[in-house]
Amino acid sequence: VNRTPLIAGNWKMNLDHLQAIAFVQKLAWSLAEAKHAPADAEVAVFPPFTDLRSVQTLVAADSLPIAYGGQDLSAHDSGAYTGEISGAFLAQLDCAYVIIGHSERRTLHGETDAEVNAKVLAAQRHGLVPVLCVGETAEDLEQHGASAVPVAQLRAALAGVDASKEIVVAYEPVWAIGSGQAATPEQAEQVAAALRGVLAELLGDEIAARTRILYGGSVKAANIAAFMREPNVDGALVGGASLDIDEFSAIVRFKK
Ligand code: G3H
Repeated sequence: VNRTPLIAGNWKMNLDHLQAIAFVQKLAWSLAEAKHAPADAEVAVFPPFTDLRSVQTLVAADSLPIAYGGQDLSAHDSGAYTGEISGAFLAQLDCAYVIIGHSERRTLHGETDAEVNAKVLAAQRHGLVPVLCVGETAEDLEQHGASAVPVAQLRAALAGVDASKEIVVAYEPVWAIGSGQAATPEQAEQVAAALRGVLAELLGDEIAARTRILYGGSVKAANIAAFMREPNVDGALVGGASLDIDEFSAIVRFKK
């Protein structure tokens, strides 16, 4: 199966509305200048919610080859949930994707596996592709090895999902996020292969074979190619390096 790589930039709480417009314009120019072929890698950005309407307008006006999505969504569709954002609202802004279960949501906001699962189901109800994040802390790694926690998180997150709808999985070892200390490509491959095994068991071989598994954690232009050479790594979820237009453009144009 030929899986189109996905290079996704998670801006986290960076780039305000005006900065987002400037960034997306520069990214579009850079892709055009490099004659970037979408078949070589799909490009997606995950701006703060308040930027999404502007990103939608820019992308739609020139049919830019840039997908986008929210960094989170509510498990609920509407109602008395102050401060939350419904998947319906994201879908209305033509978001294709939504990040779910990022380690910063799990640790800073106490998101549980059950909540992550409810959010995956909510994303599916609204036609959004979840970019489901899993990953072990340094302590988990020491106590249980690399795969145990991500595998358990993936199992929990997939309960009751509609297997016919696309899901993207992002393996992000918590110790590698923002630390400058990326996992080795071999480590990423080992966990990605284990995650694909879970997908096969729960959703079937065919779906497992076409599901994209990303690596995230200190990805930059200098190390992307090594990750992309691994057979089970189908792209990257980039944090810090996705805020620098030159660095992110270079990541998107990786050559194996
Ligand atoms: O979602 C992105 C990750 O948390 C990776 O962040 O590239 O800054 O390590 P980083």
